[in-house]
Amino acid sequence: MRPRLGVNIDHVATLRQQRGESYPNIERAAELSLKAGADQITIHLREDRRHIQDADVPAVQTVCSGLKKLFNLEMGCSDEMVGIASRIKPDWVCLVPEKREEKTTEGGLAVLDDVNFKRVSGAVETILKHSPRTKISLFVEAHTPTLEACLRMPIHAVEIHTGDYARDFLLKKDLTPHLTHYQEAYYLMKNAQKGFHAGHGLTKHSLAPLLKQGLFEEYNIGHWIVGEAVFKGLETVVGDLVKQMS
Ligand code: PXP
Repeated sequence: MRPRLGVNIDHVATLRQQRGESYPNIERAAELSLKAGADQITIHLREDRRHIQDADVPAVQTVCSGLKKLFNLEMGCSDEMVGIASRIKPDWVCLVPEKREEKTTEGGLAVLDDVNFKRVSGAVETILKHSPRTKISLFVEAHTPTLEACLRMPIHAVEIHTGDYARDFLLKKDLTPHLTHYQEAYYLMKNAQKGFHAGHGLTKHSLAPLLKQGLFEEYNIGHWIVGEAVFKGLETVVGDLVKQMS
């Protein structure tokens, strides 16, 4: 079975917010991506609302459920976000660390820190209490002690932060250390019967070695897709990625 493709459409909203107009339309981006073969739409409602806005969340969720596809809400662990997820009940929630000053999510959740562990596990428990059918993934580095800490929470998957791998790919550096860590992380998650997802910084080129390795069951890709869509159109870019993943 081919891995799932989650299309992150945050940067369609970035473009829209740049001018404060109603276009490019985020629901249209979700619909075109799903009709082109994507399995899921991912959006990140950030605390500062720099791209995705509150009203986008139910709007994109409705597009996904109408097409019987998955809706993945990426979010920080704040009480506000936990409240939103508990209310809207997405198919998946991906919990990420969030810093106001960052350009994009930098690194994974630092769950080895006791205070962070309590914050993240508290968010997981509250979401599952209010929305027992929501599945939860934690965005983390492929680091064994971190993954072991994740397994002490009632989660469904981890999403491995592929940002450093993707950067090293662009710099033509040796990828073996990253791939070795992914292999170790995969066995840990497989033994625990948890999902193994990947995301951040990936392009169709840096995706290829990961597909060859065949470990991840889901990829969430955004920035490259939206950038490439400027030249080729969103449907073509998503359709080509789905073909590549098949
Ligand atoms: N997965 C997670 C958890 C992310 O934070 C992001 C960035 O929002 C992505 C995937 C997509 O990353 P990119 O836009 O670099 O493809």
